[in-house]
Amino acid sequence: MRILLGVTGCIAAYKACEILRELQRADADVRVVMTEAATRFVGAPTFAALSGHPVGLSLFDNATDPIPHIRLAEECDAFLIAPCTANVVAKLAGGIADDLLTSTALACTAPLMVAPAMNVHMYENAATQSNLATLRARGVQVLDPQSGRLACGEVGAGKLPEPSAIARAVLELAEPLAARALVGRHVLITSGPTVEPIDPVRFISNRSSGKMGAALAQAALDAGARVTVVSGPVSLLYPDGATVVSVETAREMLEQARRAASDADIIVGAAAVADHRPAVSAPQKLKKGTDDAELTAIPLVANPDVLRTLATDRRPGQIVVGFAAETDQVLAHAEMKLRYKHADMIVANEVGNGKAFGTDDDKAAFVTSAGIEELPLMPKAQLAQRIITKASDLLSETS
Ligand code: PMT
Repeated sequence: MRILLGVTGCIAAYKACEILRELQRADADVRVVMTEAATRFVGAPTFAALSGHPVGLSLFDNATDPIPHIRLAEECDAFLIAPCTANVVAKLAGGIADDLLTSTALACTAPLMVAPAMNVHMYENAATQSNLATLRARGVQVLDPQSGRLACGEVGAGKLPEPSAIARAVLELAEPLAARALVGRHVLITSGPTVEPIDPVRFISNRSSGKMGAALAQAALDAGARVTVVSGPVSLLYPDGATVVSVETAREMLEQARRAASDADIIVGAAAVADHRPAVSAPQKLKKGTDDAELTAIPLVANPDVLRTLATDRRPGQIVVGFAAETDQVLAHAEMKLRYKHADMIVANEVGNGKAFGTDDDKAAFVTSAGIEELPLMPKAQLAQRIITKASDLLSETS
């Protein structure tokens, strides 16, 4: 496997040496391209010695190869830029190609992964966040930085993740499509909240952002699957390549999910479906006045259980994965849901106190009839990869 490692001008550039080593331990052939600023932190001879290849530094420095960015772009199975500065994130988002590294990124059709590392305020700046959102929406894999004490002395998000984690992530990304586990398979994901109208202006809903569903969609696409996302209202963009069916209510979600489930191989219920809806959705805005109060009590009726219905009606061989969002006795409730929902696996996660809903990280456990596997806190992107890998293993066991 051939990995192109891009190194940009950041104090974490020295960690790129360790990333290179980790990749080599996995038998990857690594070539390095550096920005001019990166060479201020680590010398090119270091990367040349470690990689065993000349280091790409300039569009013009090689008399035998007048178009080095095209050659580098063509001769890799994945391009990893780690660390990636705010400046290079912005250039990539804007399509700017003013040096060898950014020109190679623009010319590269292999999967691109960036690992931003910078000062916390630079990372949180709206410009950087908007640039990262643009990259994600284009299918670039963005490895979220970790929080901690930064080189500048501030504490916050901006640290490069562990080199071993970065290496693992890019190796998975670089796997040739034909070798991916879910090529030719269809994965259906429910995602986001449902919205249950009380009247034309009010509704019952919850805090789901769709981040978990979006991460699952990306992981399934990366595994080579065709992906359908049936989503309640969210403000994020699902990855390019996924078919997105937008719904509002639980009943609409059930109808659309049923349709997509007919030829799905794996169904993942990440949506936070409202368990109840107002018995009547008033056609006019209800009054709140004391004399004519219509909002003091809202009679509710139960919504259909989307996941349980899909699991009960499943085709032979179809794998059904649900979630359990619990504030307490997480594993015990998840085991009950595994049985009640007729699922093959429940991903149990604790919610409340700022956990899981709307976050970028999640701590979960896989609950199956074979037992419980507890996972550490990790980015949702990584958790999604673990869920899709597990679901794909379960699928292979049934085929
Ligand atoms: O969207 P994010 O902000 O990233 O947050 C992610 C998440 C917290 C929403 C996600 O990790 C999660 O836990 N999703 C399930 C939320 C939920 O409704 O859990 P539950 O324990 O109430 O439901 C159990 C399972 O049944 C879930 O798979 C749910 O999709 C499904 N269900 C529940 C009720 C219902 N009427 N129909 C369903 O299909």
